[in-house]
Amino acid sequence: MKSSIVVLPGDGIGPEVVTEAQAVLSRTAELFGHEISYESFPIGGCAIDEFGEALPGETLSACRSADAILLGAVGGPRWDDPQAKVRPEQGLLKLRKELGLFANLRPIKPHPALLESSPLKREYIEGTDVLFFRELTGGIYFGESGVTGAGADETAHNVMIYSAGEVERIVRMAAEAARNRRGKLTSVDKANVLEVSRLWRRVAERVVREEFSDLEYEVVLVDAMAMHLISRPSTFDVVVTGNMFGDILTDEGSMLPGSLGLLPSASLGDPGPGLYEPIHGSAPDIAGQDAANPLATILAGAMLLRHSLGLEREATAVEQAVAEVLDAGHRTRDLARQGEDSIGTREMGRLVVDALTAD
Ligand code: IPM
Ligand code: MN
Repeated sequence: MKSSIVVLPGDGIGPEVVTEAQAVLSRTAELFGHEISYESFPIGGCAIDEFGEALPGETLSACRSADAILLGAVGGPRWDDPQAKVRPEQGLLKLRKELGLFANLRPIKPHPALLESSPLKREYIEGTDVLFFRELTGGIYFGESGVTGAGADETAHNVMIYSAGEVERIVRMAAEAARNRRGKLTSVDKANVLEVSRLWRRVAERVVREEFSDLEYEVVLVDAMAMHLISRPSTFDVVVTGNMFGDILTDEGSMLPGSLGLLPSASLGDPGPGLYEPIHGSAPDIAGQDAANPLATILAGAMLLRHSLGLEREATAVEQAVAEVLDAGHRTRDLARQGEDSIGTREMGRLVVDALTAD
């Protein structure tokens, strides 16, 4: 099989973690007899520096014609000026929107060898295996916004907006995933306060009633979910929610496996290429120090093999290699407990490459 992947390293630790994920993908392709070609394009802060925009036209058109896209991270203090006209994050948001990537899958499954690395007690996290479906191209991220007035009257607003169709398609995708897992779907909203959540709840309930009555279905308010995600994470299977709630809850959820540096994500639309990235940011404080954990991006690579290239065995091989390396006790700095030795980004990548096998 021949595939072309567009690589968007981005800013901060982005280039470092993407390099390791690419090495893992290349080795996997070699082992299983596939051909993967890569082309790299700028996005985010580095694109602003070079072209004055966060998502240059050339980057976007390359993404459109790729089989899949692998992204590192965008952003950093250099581009953080609140007065700035262009921000690195706009590049990522525009890319998601332009490619119609409305479904952001974020699996959270603590690795058994890392149960002690989580700030939470083992008995709370054991057995956790949650798959978040975060709506990614709507909600408050893409509603109308503006600033008016001056002085004490200076006022800013962001509109949270969802159409029934937008809710329907993400709920349907999440429900289908639940059907292939443990058969439970949780929809998260704030329907006791927000009109937009009341629409979300009505539509979600209708989709489940009409098309997925075989599923166990529950609705949870987002504030309560923030609590339940820590007090009883193992009771959730598939969770579906809007853009901002999903952003916040999945960062919270990353503490279950112990580090943000472990969580991959896939952004899918239909049809077209998927976008694969770690859920962590550009971590400018440790950029260039060989200190970042590349596993989230490597696992995003596994999701790319599975969802965009249809290579299930290959995806599993990558996940097994990561598990083996963790089982053997290797830890990057974010995972090492006090007194434990840690290894660098490159070393972690090399260990995963070496652990890969085709059987
Ligand atoms: C994420 C990030 C992005 C988001 C930022 C960088 C725009 O936090 O992918 O979760 O808020 O969606
Ligand atoms: Mn986020």
